[in-house]
Amino acid sequence: MQGRTRLSMNSGRKHQMANVQTVDRILRVDHAGECGAIRIYRSQIAIAKILHPDCVPDLNRMLEHELRHFRTFDSLLQARGIRSCYALPLWMVGGWMLGAFTALLGKKAIWVCTAAIENTVNQHLDHQVAVLSRADPEAWAAVESIRRDEEEHEDHAVKNGGEGRGLYRVLRWLVKGATGFAIWLSTKL
Ligand SMILES: [Fe+2]
Ligand SMILES: [Fe+2]
Repeated sequence: MQGRTRLSMNSGRKHQMANVQTVDRILRVDHAGECGAIRIYRSQIAIAKILHPDCVPDLNRMLEHELRHFRTFDSLLQARGIRSCYALPLWMVGGWMLGAFTALLGKKAIWVCTAAIENTVNQHLDHQVAVLSRADPEAWAAVESIRRDEEEHEDHAVKNGGEGRGLYRVLRWLVKGATGFAIWLSTKL
């Protein structure tokens, strides 16, 4: 009987530890993703100021959101003593390059890129919210607080021609693939 109690206590502790690791991983990936989003918008804004000035106010507004999202996850990571993702430099360099590349391609490419990324992110957030609602109310609230902005970013991009038709379908596919890969890699690092 004693043995069985100890066994169930051990499995309970293991389950708790698995939960903590899952939550840490979620917060770390989101922190890295926001860091990448900031780089994308910053490089798009730098180029759009010259080539597509009418996009700049919208991009600036989205950048403000991403900065707020980043601060939310950054303070959670610090408060909980969670290390940042080892793939952070990849998000920063890759994000900057993707933003610059799409802004140079044109206004439509900017919105295709935004719609593709935010679509991938929103699918990912749906999954996170489902996990966190049971495991960690504070982390759940953090993810919920950014969700509406990310959905609005996707809707706005689609409304501006970012649905990715014709040849732009290839760009959408590439951006979604790269974002999905970066998220997957970040869960391992
Ligand atoms: Fe964000
Ligand atoms: Fe966003």
